[in-house]
Amino acid sequence: MTSAPKPALSGVREAVRRTPAYPFTPIDAPIKLDQNESAQDLPPELRQIALERLGQADWNRYPDLHADSLRHKIAAFEDWNPEGVVVTPGSNVLIKLLTELAGVGQTVLSVQPNFSVYGLEASLLGAKSVQVPLNGDFSLPVAGLIHELKEGGPGLLFVTQPHAPTGHLDNEADVRAVLDAAGDDWVAVLDEAYYQFTPHDGRALIRERGNRVSLRTFSKAWGLAGLRLGYALTSPELAANLQKLVSAFNVNVLTQTVAEVALEHPAYMRERAAETVRERERVLSALANHPIYQALPSQANFFLLRTPDADAAFQHLLSRGILVRRQDKLPMLDGCLRVSIGTPQQNDALIAALEGSTEY
Ligand SMILES: Cc1ncc(COP(=O)(O)O)c(C=O)c1O
Repeated sequence: MTSAPKPALSGVREAVRRTPAYPFTPIDAPIKLDQNESAQDLPPELRQIALERLGQADWNRYPDLHADSLRHKIAAFEDWNPEGVVVTPGSNVLIKLLTELAGVGQTVLSVQPNFSVYGLEASLLGAKSVQVPLNGDFSLPVAGLIHELKEGGPGLLFVTQPHAPTGHLDNEADVRAVLDAAGDDWVAVLDEAYYQFTPHDGRALIRERGNRVSLRTFSKAWGLAGLRLGYALTSPELAANLQKLVSAFNVNVLTQTVAEVALEHPAYMRERAAETVRERERVLSALANHPIYQALPSQANFFLLRTPDADAAFQHLLSRGILVRRQDKLPMLDGCLRVSIGTPQQNDALIAALEGSTEY
């Protein structure tokens, strides 16, 4: 049988054709420590409240156009002007929209290694991407970034605090120096997906200038990755422009309803973030003197494990039912696996699996 001729697809923009798809291969494993999710779901009593409210919602009607009620609840929780809050299905969507807002035809500046979606969206949308290598200790390359900010632009700057995938948290003076250098020519984004696991909170820095944005998500500390909800905190002026790029009715009734229930009961999120931090420190100290693996310090809900052979270490953990994420192909991360913090029992299994592996 002859196969159908390959379509030429010359109508598909070259930038889209040459950009590789988001690199993720789902693998099933009993202990899933590969996506920096929360190991625990919404508490059962809150699930019950959410289900009852969903039972009363109108599923045949479009949701609120810009999710106003949810935006007001986020604003109250964050002590922010509701006019400066924009919500989308995950902060990944905001990364795309910010790239449309300030990157297309301009420059997207970030560091290397970094969260892959910044580069992916820049590539898909045909923006020029500039990535400055992190310092050897994973701290922000302040001088290099300031140079690019002053010489290049205008465009879009991404600073991730704590940084992903290293978990490094910079001191505030360094973050401030970089954001200040962005001046008015750049839209400066602080991606704070993991801020609840640190003493850091970038809101004061964002408030100082109208062209700054904080990105936050319900996917990590809130334990609601399946809901797909992220938000931007920014000035009303920038939010009004960003909102134009958000497609109408983009956060559905189910997500709006469940997120509102979570926001009415934020104590669970704070308690779990504190527990994750305790567990992170317990795991890191249990692995501190490992003869072959080096667990790197982190301020997030994950850490990097440097191994002599990432493939062998990945397969060893998988054979013990533990799935982690390989990062060893990224610049500066030779031999590294990224490991999310799980429940205490899952972390015990991780420690036992690594302790049982002292040679190849
Ligand atoms: C640094 C960073 N930013 C943003 C996101 C996107 O989160 P979401 O789209 O689930 O809100 C992630 C997810 O892993 C992340 O690590």
